[in-house]
Amino acid sequence: MTIIDGKKISNDIKQELKASVEVCRQTVNAVPGLTVIIVGQDPASEVYVRNKAKSCKEIGMNSEVIELPEETSQKKLLSIIETLNKDPEVHGILVQQPLPAHIDEYAVTMAISPSKDVDGFHPENVGQMVLGNLDKCFISCTPYGILELLSRYTIETKGKHCVVVGRSNIVGKPMANLMLQKLRETNCTVTVCHSATRNMTALTRQADILVAAIGRANFITKEMVKPGAVVIDVGINRIEDASRKSGCRLVGDVDYEQVSELASAITPVPGGVGPMTIAMLLKNTLHSFMRAHSIQSL
Ligand code: GUN
Repeated sequence: MTIIDGKKISNDIKQELKASVEVCRQTVNAVPGLTVIIVGQDPASEVYVRNKAKSCKEIGMNSEVIELPEETSQKKLLSIIETLNKDPEVHGILVQQPLPAHIDEYAVTMAISPSKDVDGFHPENVGQMVLGNLDKCFISCTPYGILELLSRYTIETKGKHCVVVGRSNIVGKPMANLMLQKLRETNCTVTVCHSATRNMTALTRQADILVAAIGRANFITKEMVKPGAVVIDVGINRIEDASRKSGCRLVGDVDYEQVSELASAITPVPGGVGPMTIAMLLKNTLHSFMRAHSIQSL
C-alpha cells in the first residue's frame, strides 16, 4: 500500500517554482505577485491565508494579504478587486471563502478578472476547463493538485472508473470534469455521487479511483471501497480528541485506519491533498505572470 505524500510532492513543486521565479527575475526583472483578501476572522481561513502568504515568500514571489473587517460592504470589496484587476504587479487575486453572509460570493467571483482568477472559479475559466482548453484557463487548485499527485505517482487513469463523492463547485464538479478529459490523458469513466444518490455503496465499490470531497469526517468506510482502489481524501474535518493538548485533531472524509488496509494507495490527512492546493495556487500565479509577460516557457 502506497501512502501518497502530498507534503513531499508539494515541496518538490515549490522548489521547481522557486527556480522558475528566479528565471523570471533574471529575464524580465520582475516576479509574480499574489494578493489574498480575507474578510472577517474565521480561524481556519486565517491559517490558510497565512500559509498561502508564507509559501509565496518561500519561493520568491511577492504576496500581499488584505485583511478586511467582517462588516466590510460588498461595494467596498468589489472596488478593492477592481483596483487589483488594474494593478500590473498583481498576477493573482484570491478572495478567501467563506465570505460573511451579507456578501454575494458569485458577485465577487464575477468581479475578479478571469486573467487573474488563480482560484479558477470564474465561469470563463470553468468553461474553458470543461471544453478541455487547459492551456487557456486556470484549473481550480485542489483538483489540479490531485491530477498532479496521480501523475507524479504514475497512477494509471486511462479507462479506469473514477467515482467522485461530492459535487461542490470548488472540488467535486471540476474534479469529475478533469478525470473525464482526453487531455492530460486522464480518460476515466466518471460517476459523481452526492447527498441524493441512492445506494452509494454500490457505486463507490466500483471505483478504481475514489475521490472523497464531502466534508464529513470518516464518511467513507471500508465497506464502500473496492480492495486495491486508489483513494483520494479531500476532507479536512476537525473532530474532538481529548488525548490531544488542543482537544481536537484533523481527519479526512475517509476512515483512514479501515480503508488504508485495503486500498492500493491513499492520501493521508493531513499531508495529502491539502499541501497540494497551495502548490497549485502558486503554479497558477506563475502562469498568470508568464501570460502577462508573453513568456511561453521557462
Ligand atoms: N476556502 C477554502 N478553500 C478555498 C480555496 O481554494 N479558495 C478560496 N478562495 N477560498 C477557499
